[in-house]
Amino acid sequence: MVKIAASVLNADFSKWQEWLPELEKAKVDRIQWDVMDNKYVPNKGVDKKWLAELRNKTKIFFESHHMVLNPEKQVSEFAKMGSNMFIFHTETTKEPLKLIEQIEKHEMKVGIAVNNKTPAEKIFPYLNKIDLALVMTVEAGFGGQSFVEKNLEKVHALREKIDSEKLDCEIEVDGGIDAKTGALCVDAGVDVLVSGSGIFKHPKGIVEAIKELKFL
Ligand code: DX5
Repeated sequence: MVKIAASVLNADFSKWQEWLPELEKAKVDRIQWDVMDNKYVPNKGVDKKWLAELRNKTKIFFESHHMVLNPEKQVSEFAKMGSNMFIFHTETTKEPLKLIEQIEKHEMKVGIAVNNKTPAEKIFPYLNKIDLALVMTVEAGFGGQSFVEKNLEKVHALREKIDSEKLDCEIEVDGGIDAKTGALCVDAGVDVLVSGSGIFKHPKGIVEAIKELKFL
């Protein structure tokens, strides 16, 4: 069964006491925290205070998705706040191996993301050293964008590489994921679907939205 990560980028944090229990009831696998610096991407992302605030309110796995320049400067802080996985963008570092080591030293799992225009092959050399490869299916920076189907070619390439070398690395997609686009991703061999609007803006509510995605 495909895993589901709920992106809280556009969640209403004044109502977290309503939606967090819903995410737990739906047995969502992860919560994704979008971290942005208004430099690498032209947006601010989720206020990191909420990650720290909700950390001791739930046992749900937290993955922090760092759409920032100099991600190495955020590793220690997010480890302390309780992120379980640190996902950085390959486009934002010249020393990925050093960053991978730094993240592991802080006892977090490691993910590398490829943005909309970056070929998947850019992260092939690191697949045997990381826990997750994130294929952006939109241009990083904003929720509610339309799914870029062309990026499924990257999923196929990663699936083939990971399977042929028997690597222990999940493939995750993020951006414009709902039941329709999610089904395309599952067919392409994705392990984890990230969805924000597809969950929080679903007409039937959070629990139904997650159930729909889980059973694709
Ligand atoms: C883009 C963000 C979004 C967010 C989910 O930088 O990473 O992809 O998590 O957005 P939607 O609303 O498209 O699921």
